[in-house]
Amino acid sequence: MSNLQFDRHRRLRMTSALRDLVRETAVTKDDLIYPVFAVEGYDTKNEVPSMPGVYQYSLDLLKEEIDDVVERGIKAILLFGVPAHKDEVGSNAYAENGIVQRAIRELKIRHPELTIIADTCLCQFTDHGHCGIIEEGHILNDRSLDLLTKTAVSQAEAGADVIAPSNMMDGFVTAIRHGLDEAGFVNVPLMSYAVKYASAFYGPFRDAAHSSPSFGDRRTYQMDPANREEALREAASDNREGADFLIVKPALSYLDVVRDVRAEFNRPVVAYNVSGEYAMIKAAAAQGWLDEKETVMEKLTSMKRAGADVIVTYFAKDAARWIDEG
Ligand code: PBG
Repeated sequence: MSNLQFDRHRRLRMTSALRDLVRETAVTKDDLIYPVFAVEGYDTKNEVPSMPGVYQYSLDLLKEEIDDVVERGIKAILLFGVPAHKDEVGSNAYAENGIVQRAIRELKIRHPELTIIADTCLCQFTDHGHCGIIEEGHILNDRSLDLLTKTAVSQAEAGADVIAPSNMMDGFVTAIRHGLDEAGFVNVPLMSYAVKYASAFYGPFRDAAHSSPSFGDRRTYQMDPANREEALREAASDNREGADFLIVKPALSYLDVVRDVRAEFNRPVVAYNVSGEYAMIKAAAAQGWLDEKETVMEKLTSMKRAGADVIVTYFAKDAARWIDEG
């Protein structure tokens, strides 16, 4: 025994104070973005069946919900709109009085210090549920860019602090950046969904946002989960085109990509912990199969460890409480 040579890693784990001292990664409330869903109507609070604890709120109740979010120390929200009317060209996405534009205006009056990030996409607003204009069953990349740019500018006009284009058309960062600059919004950053996979984990979100495609799927614009090199090409374009943040989405099954994007580009990286990742933990916790707090904090820590600077998560409110508890 005495002449065996080995390293004693456990020395640094012997007390909680030592473990605190050598901990490499921490999740703080400053890192979190909370996604919220605004719906038309009044006095409406609909729970999303596949996302327990997540609701669509009409604007009157959304304001109270955001009071609570701010109270808990969360500084940023990602805003999605669920319109009453959809059409072929998603006109409610860029209407001056669209649900997102009104929500931004009202929330800004009440919480001027809150960072409001507007998701910029058409799929919630089009009757076919795709993220752009459709002609003869195909999405038209370049014509969709015009509508996305209009959407982004109208969101900035309403007071959005950050624009987050999620549609995955080629050239969307260039087009939207140009549109924002022309309209005088040179200081509004772009948080680009640079690497967005065609993922089964978006299922619950499509319930929440009523944004399932009515035909086909999103595989001609969202990425194949099998591809890593392609993720770097996507991120390189957005980086070059001037995205201020680079999102990788989903987060959990793609932490290798989070790490790659962090290593390759000198921009803040955002991990989007998507709806299906939320639903899985909620379902297991409800059965008593997983400890929700421990599991969620481990997951969020793993995203930071992989290289994420910022995390979008439906767990943000709970995580803020758990972080306070220590
Ligand atoms: C809209 C959009 C989606 C998500 C965010 N923005 C859905 C999709 O692309 O189908 C998914 C978010 C989640 O699952 O939490 N394009």
